[in-house]
Amino acid sequence: MSLLLSNIPAREPLARAPELLAQARPSRERLDAILAAVLARIDRNLEVFTDAFPAPSSVNGVYPAIDNIEWTNGFWTGMLWLAYEASGEARYRAAADKQVRTFAARIQNEINVDHHDLGFLYSLSCVASWKLTGDIGARDAALAAARRLMTRYLPAAGIVQAWGDLSDPQQAGRMIIDCNLNLPLLYWASAETGDPIFRLAADRHIDQAARFIVRSDASTFHTFYMDPKSGAPVGGKTHQGFSDASCWARGQAWGISGFPLVHRYKADAGLIQVAARLANYYLNRLPADLICCWDLIFTQAPHERDSSAAAITACGLLELARALPLTDPDRTAYEAAAVSMVLTLGEQYLLPLGAPGSGVLAHAVYHMPNKVGVDEACIWGDYFFLEALVRLTRVWEPYW
Ligand code: GLY
Repeated sequence: MSLLLSNIPAREPLARAPELLAQARPSRERLDAILAAVLARIDRNLEVFTDAFPAPSSVNGVYPAIDNIEWTNGFWTGMLWLAYEASGEARYRAAADKQVRTFAARIQNEINVDHHDLGFLYSLSCVASWKLTGDIGARDAALAAARRLMTRYLPAAGIVQAWGDLSDPQQAGRMIIDCNLNLPLLYWASAETGDPIFRLAADRHIDQAARFIVRSDASTFHTFYMDPKSGAPVGGKTHQGFSDASCWARGQAWGISGFPLVHRYKADAGLIQVAARLANYYLNRLPADLICCWDLIFTQAPHERDSSAAAITACGLLELARALPLTDPDRTAYEAAAVSMVLTLGEQYLLPLGAPGSGVLAHAVYHMPNKVGVDEACIWGDYFFLEALVRLTRVWEPYW
């Protein structure tokens, strides 16, 4: 089914469009310099993070080393693939190849795979490996991950349940906006195998997310419960945001990036119009430098920024602009905003070239309510920052 375009309300006017269009001039030299700085930070970390992985967030700017056990392990491997594509240097590929083997072992041995983040994990590691190097073992592992993800699909509700054992009443029927980025793994699996079952589940989930997670004002709930038996909507609840009624900035960023990525597989123009509504809501609630606070209810200091949400959004705006018709009134402003965000992140939010294991982007927030990873580097922020740089300086086919 397609989202009915006539049912999608108009976007908020983009208040800062003239300013965005005036200030951001894509500067290849500046972008190249930032990309070189990011590659230098990856080089510095290669020794510590070839046989191990960075933790989700840093501690005093340095990532503790972990095994392949978190929802976030794919981001560092994805950075290695991006570095390999951007530079052609074999050392990045060698490290990524080594890590891909741990993803194959993880799905085979069922190590922390009972959650929906298998897309984040396997698109950036094994799907990327298959696309770039033709590694058949990586393809098999990614297909196994897609099949595992399908076990979380609740047909009556039409959603992939995010977290928890499927029998856990606290988590039953809960979808979250972040899942938009897990759906490309399902679409890829259908394209790869010819079996429509993965695609049909993803099609229903994205429609349910557009209907229920997106509020009427184009802000988003972080999470939304459906009745798993009847399929009826129950209500929205935050997990990492300020309140149930506020708009968690990274959730909005997952929406801005995820709806257009899914549009690559599901030719439904409504997804693009939903993403544009989310983008305008987000862009109208930013501090002067365009780097969001951790929840969009806040727009200035002393509230913490979330540079990782800004990096995700920059990729999302580029993906959105790519999908919009040339005549769309906001399309050029989205590209300008993305460039501006990347330049600001690269010139004002980059951590110094510090000790091995250090992060790339300063001032991210992992989980404010739990006080985890506050004003630290977060590995997905580093990944999306590099993805945005590659998108702006190369012709690039997503791993998603
Ligand atoms: N997907 C979890 C997070 O963004 O923190």
